[in-house]
Amino acid sequence: MARPCTILSGLRQSLLVFAFGVITLIGIGAIHAEALAIDLGPGATAPIRPFPLNQVRLGNGLLQEKRDRIKSFIRSYDERKFLVLFNNQAGRPNPSGVTPPGGWEDGGLLSGHWTGHYMTALSQAYVDQGEQIFKTKLDWMINELAACQDMITARFNGTKGSGAASWVPTFPGYLGALPEDTVLRLGPPRWAVYGGNLDTNTWAAWYTQHKIIRGLLDAYYNTNSSQALNVVTKMADWAYLALTIGDKNHPQYKGNLTRDDLNYMWDLYIGGEYGGANEVFPEIYQITGNPRYLEIAKAFDNRESLFGSAVNNQDILVVTSDKIPGRRRPARLHANQHIPQFIGYLRIYEQGGDQEYFAAAKNFYDWVVPHRRFATGGVGGSYPGTDTNGELFQNRDNIANAMGGSGAETCTTYNTIKLARNLFLHDHNATYMDNYERSLFNQIAGSRADTSSTRDPQLTYFQSLTPGIPRDFGNTGTCCGGTGMESHTKYQETVYLRSADGSALWVNLYIPSTLSWAEKGLTVKQETTFPRGDTAKFTITGQGPLDIKLRVPAWARKGFKVSVNGQAQSDVAQPGTYLTLSRTWKTGDVIEVAMPFNIRIERALDRPDTQVIMWGPLLLQIVGKPSSANGGYFGISLYRYLKLDGDYSLTAIKRTGTSAAGDPTFRTADGGLTVRPYYIGDSQAVSSYFRRIEPNVVFGAIDTGIPNRKRNDGLPSYNVPVSGIPSPGTDGPTFLDLVWDQAPFASHKAFVETVTSRADAFVAAGVYSAGERDLIVAKAAQAEQELAPN
Ligand SMILES: *[C@@H]1O[C@H](CO)[C@@H](O)[C@H](O)[C@H]1NC(C)=O
Ligand SMILES: *[C@@H]1O[C@H](CO)[C@@H](O)[C@H](O)[C@H]1NC(C)=O
Ligand SMILES: *[C@@H]1O[C@H](CO)[C@@H](O)[C@H](O)[C@H]1NC(C)=O
Ligand SMILES: *[C@@H]1O[C@H](CO)[C@@H](O)[C@H](O)[C@H]1NC(C)=O
Ligand SMILES: [Zn+2]
Repeated sequence: MARPCTILSGLRQSLLVFAFGVITLIGIGAIHAEALAIDLGPGATAPIRPFPLNQVRLGNGLLQEKRDRIKSFIRSYDERKFLVLFNNQAGRPNPSGVTPPGGWEDGGLLSGHWTGHYMTALSQAYVDQGEQIFKTKLDWMINELAACQDMITARFNGTKGSGAASWVPTFPGYLGALPEDTVLRLGPPRWAVYGGNLDTNTWAAWYTQHKIIRGLLDAYYNTNSSQALNVVTKMADWAYLALTIGDKNHPQYKGNLTRDDLNYMWDLYIGGEYGGANEVFPEIYQITGNPRYLEIAKAFDNRESLFGSAVNNQDILVVTSDKIPGRRRPARLHANQHIPQFIGYLRIYEQGGDQEYFAAAKNFYDWVVPHRRFATGGVGGSYPGTDTNGELFQNRDNIANAMGGSGAETCTTYNTIKLARNLFLHDHNATYMDNYERSLFNQIAGSRADTSSTRDPQLTYFQSLTPGIPRDFGNTGTCCGGTGMESHTKYQETVYLRSADGSALWVNLYIPSTLSWAEKGLTVKQETTFPRGDTAKFTITGQGPLDIKLRVPAWARKGFKVSVNGQAQSDVAQPGTYLTLSRTWKTGDVIEVAMPFNIRIERALDRPDTQVIMWGPLLLQIVGKPSSANGGYFGISLYRYLKLDGDYSLTAIKRTGTSAAGDPTFRTADGGLTVRPYYIGDSQAVSSYFRRIEPNVVFGAIDTGIPNRKRNDGLPSYNVPVSGIPSPGTDGPTFLDLVWDQAPFASHKAFVETVTSRADAFVAAGVYSAGERDLIVAKAAQAEQELAPN
């Protein structure tokens, strides 16, 4: 979102939910949930649907450790702090000595947003393990907020309040930590813009309405709070009037809002940021059956620019300043302002909206992933030569040249994977889940410090891409501090999905967990230490026919082995797909999965020499501060260590052991650098990307003396010019990159053949002379000993 120069933005996440239920704990671990007849929330009408959060329990491991740290903060935090600002607006007293949370929940123009996030986190924390304290806090807050709403509405008929509560509402039903006017003034006739003046500016007023509504709706889904639903319905009635009739008490009022007025509102930088406001109203429509709520959701359509371009698949996230589609949008769009809007479009689609709502969401996502996504799962970067607001989208395919100290705002990833997950419910392409997994185990897990605090959420805002920068934790009252409380209390939400007809179970993630599928009387227990380990075991309780679809991660190139009751399955497991086990299951059936991790190098789209080290799903960061050489990146050589198997983990980047916390540690042969998983949350200097330094063509210790030249792939290739960087450029993969991309080699002969064909291609492209080619091939032929695996 941004505050004068940094913005916030974030959205809570709405979990699945196809029903809610109240948890009863019977003995240890048994969950009984009473399901509603209809599915609610994301994917409510989709071919694949989530399970309610209370039907999946997170087991012990990395994510449970992260969850428990945030839960201890949420548990200890004084919930009365959240009511102070609401009470002020309602004209209700506050206990002495209780202050608002602070950060942006401080009486400034974003106040109220953190209250919504906290309520979502409370209901998730409760539904997870059934600890009463979370529900007690939540019920109290809902009750108090309902009282605030009533007090404000009572003034509608002329009962004047005093002090901060002396304003008279334009419509009944408003609830907020700020006067109603802060929302209404965004529209005509005032068109308030983003800024800090409490009387004239606005700051993402509908974003805050969204957070509060989301928090209350989640309380309804997760804890069956009818009071929460009651408050939400009144808020939605208010929203309907605010977005149709508008600011009617203003002297210059000209009549109802038009489509044109709405378009003008939503392109406004930050002021017009509405989070996923269009996501909650279709849900309220589904629950209540009142079509006016679906109409409100459509009022948020960003029709003047982004919606239409997304339907037509024209990537306009960054444009040149002379060709700005829309009257008010800047040349570069704010990432987290716009990503959640597409989650809302999906929700409209799910509740009867046209196909174009789905097309817009799918196309938009493809502009972001992979074209603007860092290997960490982060999105949003700098823009060389133009400006340094890292909350904005960078140019398409601008990765290596978009890294900055600010950039990869955590709540942007929260929303990107929320969109990925929701798209998957309609379009069962495993690539969505590959990205979800990457983002979850890296950027999201890494967003929480591995320390305890009962006073501070210890969450990240930006996760710097600049090499050698430590992560910074805190974020009371910010967007990322809000979405972070949610992310760490819903780790189990995407592990399992089911087909609408219940005939298939999708296993998307390897996370220790127990699914209690109430409708089917089936329990699936997943035991795994993933991502610290690379195997998983599933035990079935219950019986019946079912297709179990196991995700075969795109990175699982070293094999994905499945056995059922000890019998190896012969199905071919293609990385980046799902493997289906169709049978009639019975109690005691066991599925075992092994998916060996391996070291893999990933190159940035725009600069192939700018790379990351991956270990299965995990990005491995280099610990320490690089020198100023190599542009301030660590420079690492790896090819000289490789054998015919091309396996980096055997020679170039070897596992050194396991930390006390249970995390794998590695060391590079070149430079002896310590390398460890991204998810570790401490304050050490770390680098995600490094520069690959491979000056000569070498085969083991044999140096040909010939430069390891690049193929000219015309990189970088940006759709909008980036100042200071020629585009298209002359970059591309190096000769050795192209050779080793073919590994493993079955024999030395096969290796020499690959070297020969690649060298021939470089000669044809004018990169190597015939003489250089001959020398390279001759040296490769001499390298049999060098390249023989140990
Ligand atoms: C949810 O609450 C309603 C009353 O508001 C009640 O009738 C219903 O039984 C509750 N459902 C569950 C699953 O507890
Ligand atoms: C305002 O007063 C009228 C007349 O008494 C009543 O019908 C209406 O419900 C009141 N509205 C609110 C929001 O209290
Ligand atoms: C203005 O909007 C309201 C709905 O909130 C509607 O009832 C009314 O008819 C509209 N007025 C005009 C002039 O369109
Ligand atoms: C899945 O998505 C990827 C990336 O957009 C695309 O290349 C691939 O063709 C899709 N696969 C299917 C089966 O649609
Ligand atoms: Zn944020």
